[in-house]
Amino acid sequence: MTRPITAAVFPVAGRGTRFLPATKASPKEMLPIVDKPLIQYAVEEAIEAGVTRLVFVTGSTKRAIADHFDIDTELEQALTRAGKNDLLRSIQGIVPKGVTCIYIRQGEPLGLGHAVLCARPAVGNEPFFVHLADDLIKGAPGCLTQMANEYREHGGSVVAVETVPPENTSSYGIVAVDAADRNRVTRIVEKPAPAEAPSNSAVVGRYLLMPEIFDKLENTGKGAGGEIQLTDGIADLMDDQPVYAYSFDGIRYDCGSKLGYLQATLAYGLEHPDTGTEFREQVLALADRLRNG
Ligand code: UTP
Repeated sequence: MTRPITAAVFPVAGRGTRFLPATKASPKEMLPIVDKPLIQYAVEEAIEAGVTRLVFVTGSTKRAIADHFDIDTELEQALTRAGKNDLLRSIQGIVPKGVTCIYIRQGEPLGLGHAVLCARPAVGNEPFFVHLADDLIKGAPGCLTQMANEYREHGGSVVAVETVPPENTSSYGIVAVDAADRNRVTRIVEKPAPAEAPSNSAVVGRYLLMPEIFDKLENTGKGAGGEIQLTDGIADLMDDQPVYAYSFDGIRYDCGSKLGYLQATLAYGLEHPDTGTEFREQVLALADRLRNG
């Protein structure tokens, strides 16, 4: 019997330097894709997977995230008075009843592994999700739900993976797996150069982790980039218990990069009920102009 997963950790304490100057004073997780910030897509995916505790590991310049998930009575009253019911609905119930937000400050940005360790008091001794909001994944059901289903089948920790071009291995945690054993991870390396990479199967921003990872992270020293890496903690966890790689069904947009963000805006804009039809015409017209010089 596997245990239900009720907590999701959102490490949002990074500075988002690839998106400067936009991220100088505001969080990259608040960048909108059409009309919703990245962090709201993340929270919706977690709630769909059954999560009731949203644990945000935050840092300076991230206050807008907490404000976003608060009830704004003044704004709700103004929209009610103006009869703007659709807009009112769009800001109500972002966090449904029975779901709690917990904010923990990561005093210093010592790395993703350290950020996850900061969440320990709020997670306790249960399996939990880690969700990196800048990896936006379009999937139905969402990636976390798919991973929870996988976990229910065979237990153990699960990391979401995607095949990347071999020349890009140095941007990811890279795994080797045993295909005969449900893709059990046999090796995981943080940001290897292409020549050292055990494969081109890259871990993306979704993890389902057993609580024993916390003890491992307590003892994980600084790794790649001088940071405490979650990848190194997972490598230690693999000494004691299984970690599986899961190829999710969906499309991932790396919204921490400018190009990925633009691709996501295009894809979501084309499907959005308010913009889809007209945007499509404009995109096609633009494509024609580009083609014809
Ligand atoms: P990234 O490597 O994407 O770093 O972190 P970043 O600061 O967000 O962005 P760039 O590379 O400077 O543009 C991966 C995830 O880990 C979180 C980030 O917020 C992001 O979700 N993180 C990273 C922390 O919460 N704390 C840290 O100390 C480091």
